[in-house]
Parts: sequence; C-alpha cells; structure tokens
Amino acid sequence: MLNALAYSQQLLDKLVNKYYDGNFIDGTTGNGNDIHRIVSNKHFKGHAYGFDIQEQAILNTQNKLEDIDSNRYTLINDSHANINKYIKSNVTIHGAIFNLGYLPGGDHSITTQGESTLKSVEFISNQLVKGGQIILVVYSGHDSGKVESDQILNALSEYSQDEFQVLTYQFINQINHPPYVIIIERK
Ligand SMILES: C[S@@+](CC[C@H](N)C(=O)[O-])C[C@H]1O[C@@H](n2cnc3c(N)ncnc32)[C@H](O)[C@@H]1O
Repeated sequence: MLNALAYSQQLLDKLVNKYYDGNFIDGTTGNGNDIHRIVSNKHFKGHAYGFDIQEQAILNTQNKLEDIDSNRYTLINDSHANINKYIKSNVTIHGAIFNLGYLPGGDHSITTQGESTLKSVEFISNQLVKGGQIILVVYSGHDSGKVESDQILNALSEYSQDEFQVLTYQFINQINHPPYVIIIERK
C-alpha cells in the first residue's frame, strides 16, 4: 500500500491526465513539489495556481519551475483563504492539492490553520467540475495539526452527499499519527 504522500501524488497524476487542459490549484506550494508535478506532466496544457504565505516558499517554487513555460502557472504570495481575489467565481476548477502543515526545513510555527484551509476548500469545491477532486494531505501528529484535522473532518462530514463524495485514506494501526489523505470529489 502507498503511504499518504505517494497516494496523493498518484491521485494528482490521474487527475492531471484526465483534465490535462484544466485549472489546478496548489493551496500550499512550499518547496514546489506538487505544483511541479502538475505542470511538468507531459500532457498538461492547462493552468496551475500556487499559493503560499511565505515568500521563501514562493521563491523556492519559482526556482523549481524555472524550466517550465511560465504561461502554465501563476504563483501567489498570499493565503489560500484569499483565493477569491485571484480566481473569478465563474472559473471552473478541475483539481486541487493541499499538503498541510509546515514547510519542511522551515519555520514550524508557520503552519496551515483549519479556518483558512476550509475557506479555500469551500471556494474550490463550489467551482469544481463533476469528477474534479480536492486532495488534502493532513498531518495530525503535531498539536495544531490535530486541531486542524478535527476542524476539517467536522466540516467535511457536513458536505452534501448529493453533491460530493468525501473519502479518507488512512492507516489506522500505525504509531505516531502518520499523515492521511482526504479526497473530495464532485458528483
Ligand atoms: C507541508 S508544506 C507544503 C509542501 C509543498 N506542497 C511541497 O510540495 O513542497 C505547507 C506550506 O503551507 C504554507 N501555508 C501555511 N498556511 C498557509 C495559507 N494560509 N495559505 C497558503 N499557504 C500556507 C506554509 O508556508 C508551507 O510552505
């Protein structure tokens, strides 16, 4: 079985192959691994928007994308909670990835928060095409991550089952709270 990160990457690849000319969001670009995965897919002809509140993360991501056609992506140094400032409400979204928590090798006090994550997820879910997915990799092993994980699970369990399928992919017999994946798919 794949670990959470590898599983999220497999899902993302499938989504990009399916919606190769679609609009994608990376809610937390960090060092740029996920957005790089989207835009470097050889089939990709769409556009990816990457958000991060840390300027250093945006710079790291920009470096990682230096060989990619800059028409394929937009990097935004702002909170994903403000996504409505950058993406119009009539734009359809085909996929999104959120790798939550803090930047590996960075300041551990700068971490994602349930309220802003959920604000962004709600905006995206309203603009998601049928079959489109939001993929979240959730880290509940640190204190604020546990709070965020609980907030997200509570809110998503209220999403309409007529409109969305919401699934968790989680190892339940491993120590130290390994990361897990949440997938939201529009029906
Ligand atoms: C686990 S890292 C992301 C790793 C990244 N996906 C990669 O491939 O390298 C989490 C990132 O979320 C960012 N972050 C925290 N709160 C945020 C917010 N409200 N909006 C956007 N980014 C945020 C942090 O600055 C950090 O870079």
